Parts: sequence; C-alpha cells; structure tokens
Amino acid sequence: MRIEVDGTIFDVKKGNLLEILLDLGFEIPHICYHKAVGSYGACRLCIVEIEVNGEWRVVTSCSTDVRGGMKVRTNSKRIEDLRKGIIELLAKYTSSDLVENLASRYGIAVEGERRCILCGLCVNVCSIMGAHAISFEGRGIEKRVSPPFEIETEICRGCLACVNICPTGAIRFDEKGEIVVEKLIVAHHEMLECSICGRFVISKKHAESLGMMEIICDRCKRQIAAREYAKSMKIE
Ligand code: SF4
Ligand code: SF4
Ligand code: FES
Repeated sequence: MRIEVDGTIFDVKKGNLLEILLDLGFEIPHICYHKAVGSYGACRLCIVEIEVNGEWRVVTSCSTDVRGGMKVRTNSKRIEDLRKGIIELLAKYTSSDLVENLASRYGIAVEGERRCILCGLCVNVCSIMGAHAISFEGRGIEKRVSPPFEIETEICRGCLACVNICPTGAIRFDEKGEIVVEKLIVAHHEMLECSICGRFVISKKHAESLGMMEIICDRCKRQIAAREYAKSMKIE
C-alpha cells in the first residue's frame, strides 16, 4: 500500500505506523513502545499527525495501524511543540542518559532526580513473563513502580527481564543479588555465576524454572561458537 509521509510517497506493508516510520528512516522519539511488549501509550513521544477527513489529528504512532492512502506529518511545528512540552516535563522530574539526550536536542536543562520515567516497560514485561511481581502504585508525582505493598517480594522469579528492558537504569540488579527500583528493593535472589568467566548470569530460581543444567553467559557462548567455527574452517 502507499502512504505519504512529510510530502513523500512510500510503498509500505501493513503494520504498526511507528515501526514503519522507523524502517523508512524517520526519527521518531519513542520510549514506551517495545516490540516484545507492544504499545502502551504512556510516553506520547511518538506522536505524529495524520489526516482524517481533511483535518490533521495528533495520534501516537505506536498505537496506530498504517492504512493505504494515509497522510502523515512527523515534524510539523505542532508536533515539535508538543514533543518539546513532554520532554520538558521529563527533564523537570527525571534524569538519565536517555532524558539528557532527548533534552539536549531541544536545549532543555535536566533538573529532575529520579530515574524512572514511568514508561511501564518493566511492569508490562513482568506481566508478559507471567510473574506480575511489580506494578504501579500511587498517583501523580507519587506514582512509582513497586512490588506489592512496597515489600520485597517472593513472586519475583529473578528473570531480569525488567532490568534488561528499562531504558533509564531505574530498575537494576546489583552484586548482592538485589533487584532495586529507584531505592526500593523488589526482590533478593541467589545468583549463579557463569561456569567459565565467573560473572553473575542468572538467578538460581530462574535457572531452576528453566531446567538449566550448566550456566554459561552469552559472551562466553559466543566465544565458544566462534572458536568452534574457526576450528571447523581450520582457521588458527
Ligand atoms: S526479575 Fe522479577 S520483577 Fe523483574 S520481570 Fe522478572 S519476575 Fe518481574
Ligand atoms: S523502572 Fe524503568 S522500565 Fe520501569 S517504568 Fe521506570 S523507567 Fe520504565
Ligand atoms: S512510544 Fe508511543 S506512546 Fe510511548
């Protein structure tokens, strides 16, 4: 099907408008959309305008399916002003490399202290994993990611999906085996080391649930595969 983006015609396949625009090379800031999690509509940074019955409407591209004949504007003054407003709010309340990067594009100073931008990726990936160990608590500026009753939880499996998906480092894992969001402990896990390099790789609980017999980190797995390939090709 054909769509028009910023005055240029493109042939595209069916799908999510944000992904299509990114594939076409348009720079659309986006935080809360992730292929593994889908659209959540929290950050609203991915907004674009689409023409509907002769009127330009603002939509979140991550939650819009592309249609044949669609006309899209990605960088109109209206969109840039709205995006700037969203980034100003993020910069007022939060601070992280991600926010610094976005704010610097608009000459905005970052003043916030907390890292969490409430994008929801950790909460959503945890529920996709079937654990539901974290959720949002509170409202407004008190809203935060938390285990139930803000108490360390046994429900957490230690899969670290939340840590790996978090774009700001607000939820992290430390060497004591604690998963921490901002200053709140989500769970404590016994961690298992890579049998080759000794780095902590996975929680014992998660390894057991996956029936893992041998613990080898991804980096060591890649090195082993590369060595085996070189051997098979007789490369020294
Ligand atoms: S580590 Fe715990 S909180 Fe994080 S996604 Fe896995 S089960 Fe959920
Ligand atoms: S902890 Fe990270 S992933 Fe979770 S809502 Fe905050 S910024 Fe998003
Ligand atoms: S990426 Fe679309 S609303 Fe966040």
